[in-house]
Amino acid sequence: MARRSYNSNGSLEKEPEKVKITKESLKETLHLYSYIKPYRNKFFPSLVFIALSAFTTMLYPLFLGKMIDAAVPGAAAEVQSPAMGMGSMANYLDFTGWSLGEILVLMIGVLAIQSVFSFMRIYLLTDVGERSLADMRRDLYSKLISQPMWFFAEQRVGDLSSRMSSDLSQIQDAISFTLAEFLRGIFTLLIGLSLIFIISTKLALVMLAVVPLIAVVAVVFGMRIRKMARKAQDQLADSGSVVQETFSGITVVKAFTAEARELARYSKSIFAVVDTAISNARYRGAFVSFMIFSVFGAIAFVVWFGASMIKTGELKMGQLTSFVIFSAFVGATFAGFADMFSNLQKTLGATQRVRELLRLQGEDVSLDDHQQKQKLDLKGEVELQDIRFSYPSRQDVEVLKGLSLKALPGQQIALVGPSGAGKSTVASILLRFYEPGGGMLTYDGKPAASYSLSELRSQMALVPQEVILFGGSIRENIAYGKPSATEEEIHEAARKANASGFIEKFPEGYDTLVGERGIQLSGGQRQRIAIARAILKDPSILILDEATSSLDSESEQLVQEALDNLMKGRTSFVIAHRLSTIRNADQIVVIDKGRVQEMGSHAELVAKTDGVYKRMIEMQFDWD
Ligand SMILES: Nc1ncnc2c1ncn2[C@@H]1O[C@H](COP(=O)(O)OP(=O)(O)OP(=O)(O)O)[C@@H](O)[C@H]1O
Ligand SMILES: [Mg+2]
Repeated sequence: MARRSYNSNGSLEKEPEKVKITKESLKETLHLYSYIKPYRNKFFPSLVFIALSAFTTMLYPLFLGKMIDAAVPGAAAEVQSPAMGMGSMANYLDFTGWSLGEILVLMIGVLAIQSVFSFMRIYLLTDVGERSLADMRRDLYSKLISQPMWFFAEQRVGDLSSRMSSDLSQIQDAISFTLAEFLRGIFTLLIGLSLIFIISTKLALVMLAVVPLIAVVAVVFGMRIRKMARKAQDQLADSGSVVQETFSGITVVKAFTAEARELARYSKSIFAVVDTAISNARYRGAFVSFMIFSVFGAIAFVVWFGASMIKTGELKMGQLTSFVIFSAFVGATFAGFADMFSNLQKTLGATQRVRELLRLQGEDVSLDDHQQKQKLDLKGEVELQDIRFSYPSRQDVEVLKGLSLKALPGQQIALVGPSGAGKSTVASILLRFYEPGGGMLTYDGKPAASYSLSELRSQMALVPQEVILFGGSIRENIAYGKPSATEEEIHEAARKANASGFIEKFPEGYDTLVGERGIQLSGGQRQRIAIARAILKDPSILILDEATSSLDSESEQLVQEALDNLMKGRTSFVIAHRLSTIRNADQIVVIDKGRVQEMGSHAELVAKTDGVYKRMIEMQFDWD
C-alpha cells in the first residue's frame, strides 16, 4: 500500500536503526568526541568516578562474607586452607581479628564513599551529556536550516525532525548512560573475576564452566526477542502514522465520509501489532522460564559444590557467600553486555546519520544575526538570460527551456501563462532557491553568484502562492519581515495591506494567535498578512506570486491599490491569473512550456493579430 511506504523509511517513533560495528563506524563515533572535548574537565573526572564507584561496590560482597566469617566461631582461627589460591592476596583481604562492629563501621564507611562517587559520576556525566548534546542539536539545526531548497523538497520533514529527536537522544543516552554502564561492566568483570579466583580457584572454575554457557544462551535468545519486539514497535509506528495522516487530513476524511474506511485501516494495523506481540509473548515466556530455571539451577549447583567444600574445610561460609554474590554480579554484567552491544550498534547508526547531515554543505546564508544588517542596496535591474532549469528531484523534465527577460529598476513585470508553465519556478530562481542549470542571472548587471545569498535575499520580498504563517500572533507574523519594527510600523504595514480592518475586529487584535500554519485565518486574510510582511520589509525587488488570488474583487481592488503603491520605485515581478490586475504592468511576459512566448505592454500584446495573450484576455473577458 502506498501509504505504508510513507513510513517505511524508519520515521517518527521507530527505534533507531542499528549498524554493524566496523572500524569506520567506530571512527565516525569517535568524531563525537569533539563535542565532549569542551567539557573534558568534567568528562574525565566522571570516568574516574565510574571506576571508583565500581570498585567500592565490589567491596560490599567481600565485607559481607568477612562479617559472616567473623561471626562463625573458630573460623577466624583457622589456618590457610590449601584451596585458597594466591594465598598472600587472600591474606591481605583477611579481616582476622576484626570484630563484627568494626566490619560494620567499615562497610558503612565504604558505602558512604561509594554514594559520593555514584552521585558525582551521574551528575557529571549527565552534565557533559546534556551540554554536548545541546551543542550538537544546535549545529545540526543550523546545518539543516541553511540547506538549499531542493534538500527540503527531497527529504520528508518527519524524517528530519526524527533525526533531530531520536538519533540525538540515542547519542545522548550513549554519553550519559551506556558509556558509564560499559566502563562499570568492565571494572566489575575484572574485579569480580579476580576476587572469585582469589577466594577459590576451584570453585571459580566450576562456576565458569556453567555460567558463561547460560549467558550465551541468554544473549542469543535475548537478541531474537529484541528483534521481534522491534517488529512490533515498527508496526505500532505504522499504525501511529495512520492516526497522524487522518488527523492532519481530517477535512478530506470527513468530506468523503471515509471515517469507517479509516477505522478499518487503523484496526487492521492495530491487530497486526497484537498478532506480533502475542507471538513474541511465547518467546518471552520461554525465555523467562529458561532463565529462572537455569540461573537458579546454576546457583544451586555452585552452592552445592561450595557447600561440600565447606564440609571438607576448603572454604569458609562467608567466602561462599561473597563468592555467590560476586558470581551474580559477573553473570548480570555479562548479560548486560548484550544490551550494551545492541545499544552501541544503535548509537553507531545514529551517529552515522547525524554525521552525514553535519557534513552537508549549506548555502552561504549568514547565521549571524548581527551580520544580517542590509549592506547591499540594489537598484533593482534584473536580467535572466537563456535560463535553463530542471528540478533536482525530476532531472529529466526541463521546466525552463532557455527563458530570457529583463526588468529595469522600478519596472513592473507581469508573468502570465497556464498552470504549470513555470511561473513560480521563475520566482524561485529569482530568490536563488535553486541554481539554474544553464544561462545567466544578473542583478544590477552583476552575476547573481557575486552577491552573498543573505545579502541578495535581504533585498527581496516574496508573497508566495501558498502563504504559510508561523504559529504565533498576527503581530509576530507581520514583524517577520522586519524583526526590529515598531508597533507603529506594524500597524502602518497592516493598514497598507488592507489587513488592519479585519485584524482590529478580532477581540485580541494584533495579539490574535493564528494557529498552526495560520489555519485560524481565511486564505485571503493570510494573504494580506503576507503582503503586510512584505511591505514592512521594504525591499528593492518584490515578487508577488498570485498575491491577491484568494481575495474577493472588492478586497482585491483595495489590496491592489496597496500593492500598486508598494510597487512604486521597486522592481516587481507579479504572477497573476486574473489578467485585469496586471493591465498596467510595464511588461507582460507570457510564459508557456518553459519559454517566453510573448512580451510587451498590454496595448502591444492585444494589438497582435494572433497573440496568446490576446486569446487569454478574450477568454477571461466573460468573468472579469
Ligand atoms: N519542487 C518541484 N519538484 C519537481 N517539479 C516541480 C517542483 N515544483 C514544480 N514542479 C514542476 O515544474 C513545473 C512548473 O511549475 P510551477 O510551479 O513553476 O508552475 P506555475 O506556472 O507557477 O503554475 P501555477 O499557475 O499552477 O502556479 C510543473 O510542471 C511542476 O510540476
Ligand atoms: Mg505557481
